[in-house]
Amino acid sequence: MSELVRFSVAMPDDLLMQFDNLVARRGLAKNRSEVIRDLVRDALVDEEWDNPDQEIVGTLSIVFNHHASDLQNKLDQVQHSHHDKIISAMHIHLDAHNCLEVIAMRGMSEDIRFIADSILGVKGVKHGRLTTTTTGRFL
Ligand code: NI
Repeated sequence: MSELVRFSVAMPDDLLMQFDNLVARRGLAKNRSEVIRDLVRDALVDEEWDNPDQEIVGTLSIVFNHHASDLQNKLDQVQHSHHDKIISAMHIHLDAHNCLEVIAMRGMSEDIRFIADSILGVKGVKHGRLTTTTTGRFL
């Protein structure tokens, strides 16, 4: 566990008021310091995401209609061809037509972005989002 260091921050009072509202929304377990730490980690993770050589963990969520012709097969094909980077996948039947798939990946930023784009590019995928984090070097 690294040592906690205190420092002071100056900001406009209206920004501070909005920040305190955010702290309150995050619940009793969070205080100003913890929310600041979360925000700094988010910013650093985003920066790593920009570095193509950095290992990241990505979660891709997609929604699609399983009746669309051959869609499930195409999605499976893409996933099988990247089985070394896809560490888990979960399929949820949302209703009679729609499916949600959550695909967890681990690898170099550039590769994860490529796989996500390949899956999002499959015709019939209605919506998707890639969320990234790192393996914890500074978390
Ligand atoms: Ni389904």
